[in-house]
Amino acid sequence: MHFARNQWYVAAWSADVGREPLGRIICNEPVVLYRMMSGEVVALEDICPHRLLPLSMGLVEGDDIRCRYHGLLLDSGGRCREMPGGDAPNAAVKVPPYAVTERYGFIWVWIGDQALADPARLPNLWMNEAEGWRVGGGTYHVKCDYRLIIDNLMDLSHETYVHSTSVGQKELHDFPIETRVEDARVITSRWMPDVTPPPLYKLSLGDYAGNVDRWQICYYLPPAGVIIDVGVAPVAEGLTLEDHDAAEIRSFVLDFITPETDRTCHYFWGSARTRDIDNEALFAEMTQRQGAVFLEDVEVLEAQQRMIDHCPDRKLRAFKVDSGGVRARLMLDKLVSAE
Ligand code: FES
Ligand SMILES: [Fe+2]
Repeated sequence: MHFARNQWYVAAWSADVGREPLGRIICNEPVVLYRMMSGEVVALEDICPHRLLPLSMGLVEGDDIRCRYHGLLLDSGGRCREMPGGDAPNAAVKVPPYAVTERYGFIWVWIGDQALADPARLPNLWMNEAEGWRVGGGTYHVKCDYRLIIDNLMDLSHETYVHSTSVGQKELHDFPIETRVEDARVITSRWMPDVTPPPLYKLSLGDYAGNVDRWQICYYLPPAGVIIDVGVAPVAEGLTLEDHDAAEIRSFVLDFITPETDRTCHYFWGSARTRDIDNEALFAEMTQRQGAVFLEDVEVLEAQQRMIDHCPDRKLRAFKVDSGGVRARLMLDKLVSAE
C-alpha cells in the first residue's frame, strides 16, 4: 500500500458530517464519523465488534452510536455501554477511536499512530478562513490510485485537451513551467503573458475583450493535497508572477485526495474565491462549472487506471511537463518509506 498513515487526511467536508453517521474508508481503514450533541465530530472504526456490521449503518443516540444489527451501544471513545441481550458491558468489547479535527471547512482524520496526531501539522489553508473569501466545492469517488490525481494537478498541460471548453488553451504548451521545492512543498508555476483568455475566464472578464496575463501556481502539500493559485489580469495592468496577488480575478483551486484503497480514492475538490461571493446563484453556478471540469478529469483518470491495471508491467513515462508530479511523488515516497 502506498500510503503515509501518520498524516492528516480530509475525511469529509464539514457540512457533510452531522447527526447521521457517515462511513468512509480511509487508507483501507473503515471509519464512521458523526457529530455529538455539542457539534464536535467523533471518528471511530466503522466495524461493530459483535458481528462486524458497519457502525455507519447504525443510530446516533446522544453522543453514542448503536449498531443497527443487535443493538450494541458504544460511546464516543469507542467503549461498550450496552451489550446485545442485556449482558453486562465488557471492557474488551470496543472499537478504536481516531484523532479528528475540524478546520478550514474540512473534517481531518489521523489514521496512523494516534500519539502523533497534532493539529499544528495541518496545512495552512488561510484562504478558507480569510475575510472576503468563500469556498465552494464537492466530492467525487474516483476509481484510481490517488497519486494519479496528484500527477494530474501538478501538470496542467492536460487542460488544453481534457478541458478544451473551459480552462484549456493551446498556449499552455507555449510557456514552460518552473518547478522547485520549498518549505516541504513542491511548487510548479507557469506564467503566460499576453494570451487570449480561456472560455471559463471570459465570464469573469465581462466586457473586457483584450488579452490577459494568466498564471497557474501549483502547490503540492504532502501527503495528498494540491492547491493551485490561478487567475488572469488584463495585459495593461502589467502584473508579474511576483505581484499577481493584487489581481481581481484570482482564486485558489483546492484539491485534497484521500486514498480509500490502493485503487480508489475520495477526491475533495473546490475553490476559494473572492468574486461574487454574495451572489448565491452565481456562486453555485461557478461551483457547478468547476465540478463539471473535474468530472472530465475523472473520466481520464479512471480510464488511465484501467489501462495501468491491464498492463501492470508498463512504466509511466515522465516528460518535462511532469516535473511537478515527479517531485511530488519523490516527496511522498520519502514519507511512506520513513514509516
Ligand atoms: S453486529 Fe453489531 S450488535 Fe451485532
Ligand atoms: Fe484537469
